[in-house]
Amino acid sequence: MADKLLKMDDEDVKRAYARWAPVYDKTFGKIADAGRLAAVEQINAFEGKVLEVGVGTGMSLPNYKPHLEITGIDLSVDMLDIAHKRVKAQNLSHVTAIKEMDAGDMAFEDNSFETVVAMYVMTVVPDPVQVMKELARVCKPGGEVIVVNHFSQKHGIRGVVEKAMARFGDKLGWRPEFPVETILVCDDLQVIETVSLRPFGLFTMMRFKKIDVAKANAIGEDVTSQAAKVGLRVA
Ligand SMILES: C[S@@+](CC[C@H](N)C(=O)[O-])C[C@H]1O[C@@H](n2cnc3c(N)ncnc32)[C@H](O)[C@@H]1O
Repeated sequence: MADKLLKMDDEDVKRAYARWAPVYDKTFGKIADAGRLAAVEQINAFEGKVLEVGVGTGMSLPNYKPHLEITGIDLSVDMLDIAHKRVKAQNLSHVTAIKEMDAGDMAFEDNSFETVVAMYVMTVVPDPVQVMKELARVCKPGGEVIVVNHFSQKHGIRGVVEKAMARFGDKLGWRPEFPVETILVCDDLQVIETVSLRPFGLFTMMRFKKIDVAKANAIGEDVTSQAAKVGLRVA
């Protein structure tokens, strides 16, 4: 699967988002509002430290409730520049850090955050498998990793269009062809909910619970259920 994914590197991503940054909030950023709101609403019911990976221009930041402590990271300084300005202009004191960092090689200790969220990021990062492993690593056992993304279809008109667009991935800055299985790669992340989002179910929110595999094995719990998606809720 992974070898079929487009080869984008960090420099391609930075170049693409330097172009996107000035117009992002009024274009793709706007289309992506529903997924961002759904994820943040879910997270607002939790407690503790939240890591937003690929925070971009920080469009989600004003929507987190102030009892949470938010850290945002991104590869693109052009996108982060806008996030910094937003935090300052709106005095978002629950946002404690905004850092330039690679999601595939994060500087955080293991088990640092209660919640880790990546919205519209997995189709963009050069190595989605490595990023998924990093999201799992920095999340505390018992916490959640939440991914909002577009997942491609094999069949139908959408499948044909996504296949045709795939070769322009480096110009677009994201991979139109991206099957959900690409991110089902961590034994310690169990899918607990899959939600189809507006508009038209184009985007999906997946919630994973981080489990302590050694502990679960010791008490004989079945931890092999990566593919055990619990239903499909439509938001
Ligand atoms: C489509 S934007 C999404 C931004 C934001 N999450 C939102 O909901 O508006 C994708 C973001 O992922 C960032 N990104 C891509 N690869 C990354 C990496 N390896 N590490 C950190 N951020 C990355 C891009 O710079 C960009 O800001």
